[in-house]
Parts: sequence; C-alpha cells; structure tokens
Amino acid sequence: MVDRVVVAVLGPGRLGETHVAALARLRETGVLVDGRKVDVEPALFGRNAERVAELAQRYGLHRTSTRLDELIDAPDVSVVDNCLSNNLHFEPLMRAIGNHKHVFAEKPLTIELHEAVQLLDAAKAAGVQHGVIQNMRFGAAPRKARELLEGGLAGRIFSANVLFGYMVPQTVLNRPTWFYKKDEAGGGIVEDMMAHFFDLLRTLVGPIESVHAVQGIAWSQRREPDGTPFGVEVEDLASVGIRFANGAVGNCFASWVRRKHEEVPTFQIDGEDGSLYFSLQRLWRQTQAETAKALFRYDARALQPETLDDWQSVEVERRDPFEVQLELFLQGVATGRPTPGLPTWEDAVVNQRLIQAAYRSVAERRDVRPDEIPLGAPVPAR
Ligand SMILES: NC(=O)c1ccc[n+]([C@@H]2O[C@H](COP(=O)([O-])OP(=O)(O)OC[C@H]3O[C@@H](n4cnc5c(N)ncnc54)[C@H](O)[C@@H]3O)[C@@H](O)[C@H]2O)c1
Repeated sequence: MVDRVVVAVLGPGRLGETHVAALARLRETGVLVDGRKVDVEPALFGRNAERVAELAQRYGLHRTSTRLDELIDAPDVSVVDNCLSNNLHFEPLMRAIGNHKHVFAEKPLTIELHEAVQLLDAAKAAGVQHGVIQNMRFGAAPRKARELLEGGLAGRIFSANVLFGYMVPQTVLNRPTWFYKKDEAGGGIVEDMMAHFFDLLRTLVGPIESVHAVQGIAWSQRREPDGTPFGVEVEDLASVGIRFANGAVGNCFASWVRRKHEEVPTFQIDGEDGSLYFSLQRLWRQTQAETAKALFRYDARALQPETLDDWQSVEVERRDPFEVQLELFLQGVATGRPTPGLPTWEDAVVNQRLIQAAYRSVAERRDVRPDEIPLGAPVPAR
C-alpha cells in the first residue's frame, strides 16, 4: 500500500487536459482505499512549453516537462498515462513498462493489433497494472444500463443499436486534423469511434462473433483551419453490422458529416422482457408489461407521435467518467491489486481485433470474425 501516486500525463491536448482535470480533482479529494486517503499528484509532459504552462496554471501542476522521456524515467512517477495521438502510444508505453511504471492510455491503445499484443505481453511480464480509457463504460447512463441489464431488465437481448454523428465541415474547425491522416490516426471513424462502441456493446450485450462494415469518405480533400488543403486518407462515416455470440444483432452508425439534432451517441437495447434507450447522460426504460399496455400498430399513413412519454426515465448519477475510471485504476495501483472489472489491455486487444475485422470486412465485402485476424503479425494496410 502506497501513500502517494504521481501520475505523468503525456500530451496536453484535448484528452490530456481532460485527464489532468480529472486527476486535479482527485488530488483535492485523494483516492480512498480501505478508509485511508492516498494522495494523487498529476504531472504533465507537453512539447509546447506555452501550452504546458497554461495547463500548469489552470490545474495547479507542480511537475511538468517538455522532454518526453523525463517523466517516464523519473523514479517517483508511478503511473504513465498516455494521451498523445494514436501513433505515439506504443513507444512511450513500452519505455514506461521498462521502467516498471503502471501504464494507462487513451483509446485506441495502439494503431496496430500486434503492437497492442506486444504491450500487453510486456506489461504482464513486468507485473505492472495496465488500463485503457473506455470512458463510455463509466458514463452515467451506460453504468446504470449495465446495472439494469445485469438485473435482468431486458431478458434475452434481441438487438442493440448505436447512432452517432455530428458535422465536421470541409475546413476542419472542430477537431484536430490528424484524425484524417493515416500515419497518425491509423484509420478514420471505425478506428476512433468503434473503439468505444465495440467495447461498450461487448460489456452490455456480450461477445461479438462477427462484424460487417461499410464506410465512406465525404471529401477526398479537406482543409486545415488556416485554409491549407490536405488529402483525406481515412473514412469519415461508417455503418457496422454486428452479430453477437448470444444471437443478438446490432448496428453502429457513426458519421462526422451528419447534421446533429439529438444527443449523441444514443443507444437502444431491445430484449424479450424490456428495452433501454440512453445517451451518455440520460436513460429511459420500458418493460414488456408497459409495452403491452399501449401496443403500437403500424400504419404508414398515420402521423406517429415522437415521444418517450410511455418510457420511464431512470435517474442516473452524473460524474466525470474519466475521473471515475482513473480513481478506480489508482485504487488498484495504491493497493497493489488491480481493481476488478476495469478495462485492461486484454480488452484493448479484443477491441482492436474487432476494429481490424471491420476494416477487412470493408475490403472483402463480407462478415469477418475477429479470430480471422492474426494476433501476432502486422495486418495489411486498411
Ligand atoms: N476517450 C475519448 O472520448 C477520446 C476523444 C478524443 C480523442 N481520444 C484519444 O485521445 C488521444 C489524443 O487525442 P486528442 O483529441 O486529445 O488529440 P490532440 O491533438 O488534442 O492531442 C494530442 C497531443 O499530442 C501531442 N503531440 C502530437 N505529436 C507529438 C509529438 N511528435 N511529440 C510530442 N507531442 C506530440 C500534441 O501536441 C497534443 O498535445 C488519441 O489517442 C485519441 O484517439 C479519446
């Protein structure tokens, strides 16, 4: 049992700041383990000194560095939390494991599946704890959904649907442009968003047996915020059909060129005994008995009310999901025993294999099972 955990966040970008903010709150409260308070101290690496100074001031950071290896090598750092762009996850994490640090990373753990496997093997061999952010699992409504499903609300699940999308204009103003570049991102919206959706659906519905994906590129050229054009190398919309091992069917539609008009993402899970409909923050349920009271009869000529009135709104506990997951991970680090049930690099390997199965399905226009994707070798380009 340790009294203090220094967590080095790598990367002061959007998600690096999200992690630093969560850790700064945990610094205020401490992490409680068996009634004892363990101190948390966030530290930050960023290559841009101005940006690092800005975050240090905003979150009261005492430890910062503009040299990537400095915090990874520092003897008092016990956790390295990698929030750099996807192509910069592997090497710093390998170095951290070599230094016997516990390791945590943004999703996707790596671009290449064989690298995720290598990282997992190295972390296991070094005996360090490993985690990957799957913030959707810890969102207020998905957490409650899991509890209700485990309590049997839906019974045998028939189907699961995910709908996600918002508009990124041709001049990319509302997200970093590296997401459109294969070297840095690995892939497009399949790589980026299915890392969330496959993971969440696996944990809510069950193991995924096969996937069948179609995808599109909205513009083959986009522009940097300053107007400089660049070629788009990855997909910005996709629809993935899913067959679950328990017989349920699923679909995830995700798009960065969709004009948003509802909370996103939304999820619907329908089962024999009931259904759940939820976003990350709000949740509704309807049992089969409630459905039976107002059975819907389809009439294509009639105007249908668009309403959740006959669904029950369920109260959820809203808390920053990054903070929830980091707190649970750090409790494991403090006690030396990984907190059970958290997303590990084993999960990251399963998720990455599914992502690569989806890309193969696009290329070969067929259902692909994850076990068709070899774990050990580089997978041919997407
Ligand atoms: N969990 C989520 O909901 C979620 C959402 C968005 C992004 N992400 C993931 O978070 C990670 C970061 O994404 P982001 O949106 O914060 O991107 P970002 O561009 O805002 O941040 C990336 C950071 O990496 C730094 N960086 C890039 N190249 C570097 C280099 N060569 N040397 C040193 N630093 C370098 C940048 O300066 C920046 O600070 C990615 O893995 C992404 O997939 C997760």
